[in-house]
Amino acid sequence: VPPDIEQMLEAHELLRKFYHHLLVNTKDGQHALEYLLGRGFTMESIEKFQIGYSLNSWDFVLNFLTKRKFPLPVIEKAGLIIKREKDGKYFDRFRDRIMFPIFDRGGQTIAFSGRSLGADEPKYLNSPETAIFNKSKILYNFHLARPQMKKLQQATLFEGFADVIAADRASVENGVATMGTSLTEDHVSVLKRNVQSITICYDSDHAGIEAAWRAGNMLSDAEMHVRIALMPDGMDPDDYIGQFGKEKFRKEVIDASVTLMTFKLQYYKRGKRLHDEGDRLRYIEEVLAEISKLDNAVERDHYLRHLANEFTLSLEALKEQLKQISFAEK
Ligand code: UTP
Ligand code: MN
Ligand code: MN
Ligand code: MN
Ligand code: MN
Repeated sequence: VPPDIEQMLEAHELLRKFYHHLLVNTKDGQHALEYLLGRGFTMESIEKFQIGYSLNSWDFVLNFLTKRKFPLPVIEKAGLIIKREKDGKYFDRFRDRIMFPIFDRGGQTIAFSGRSLGADEPKYLNSPETAIFNKSKILYNFHLARPQMKKLQQATLFEGFADVIAADRASVENGVATMGTSLTEDHVSVLKRNVQSITICYDSDHAGIEAAWRAGNMLSDAEMHVRIALMPDGMDPDDYIGQFGKEKFRKEVIDASVTLMTFKLQYYKRGKRLHDEGDRLRYIEEVLAEISKLDNAVERDHYLRHLANEFTLSLEALKEQLKQISFAEK
């Protein structure tokens, strides 16, 4: 391991411990701890996820690490301090934020995400890409979720830190999240190497539903079994667990998840009046186009029958139409 990398990892390790100490044991961190407990985080999850607090200071990290002989350029390359353009002075990246350490698969701290306590933007400030942190490859909580993922051959994919942690509280311990980026092919390969099935449990708002659609297609193209878990409009898993509790989350969100195709059928129905002939025909066309993309003949047949039943159409006519679509696509 090159010396820079070693020092970057060591700096993260030291700060993770100190941020956590500040949150849990000090007066400076009290307002942050109260904020977390007020949101339903428990001391148990604060420990498990090693959540911390960064002081409201421009030079705490700067002094803390230089005192311990870390060279400035290394601290900067680690993304922990920023160099000011106009005079070349350094200042701390993370100030007065709830700190979520991000671990690699071996459990080493390689980055942080800091959530603001008030209206400060951005809501989540992430470490930049560094020699030890590649956002497009890392899944939050992978190192802790992995044993459970392997055991169940199943993972649950969330949007955010708070969702992974709330779900863990609800005994959904196979949860991981991307960090403010959409799912990448690298994420897909990591998941594919570990599990056969994925439940996507993104926020049930417009952005989350669009993202679930894209992620669902990518995972399904990688030949994984995909289910989509949905909540009432606008809610995310953390909101849901806070409002309705753990049990209801497991039963009515996770266990009630639907196949990717069922999710698409529901999606195409949105905003359409199916008793209107035009809307109905448009719906049938959209659904047929989706069915035509299925590789599995049994599945194709299943959804064709479903469609035929729903609108009392002849299966023959639908099959004929499907052939034309498949032909047009080739
Ligand atoms: P959301 O906006 O859904 O946030 O972003 P959230 O997790 O529900 O936040 P809370 O509950 O208000 O604390 C989902 C995820 O997108 C990333 C974070 O990883 C966040 O958890 N994100 C969001 C960022 O990276 N930067 C941002 O400014 C906002
Ligand atoms: Mn502790
Ligand atoms: Mn969201
Ligand atoms: Mn959210
Ligand atoms: Mn949230």
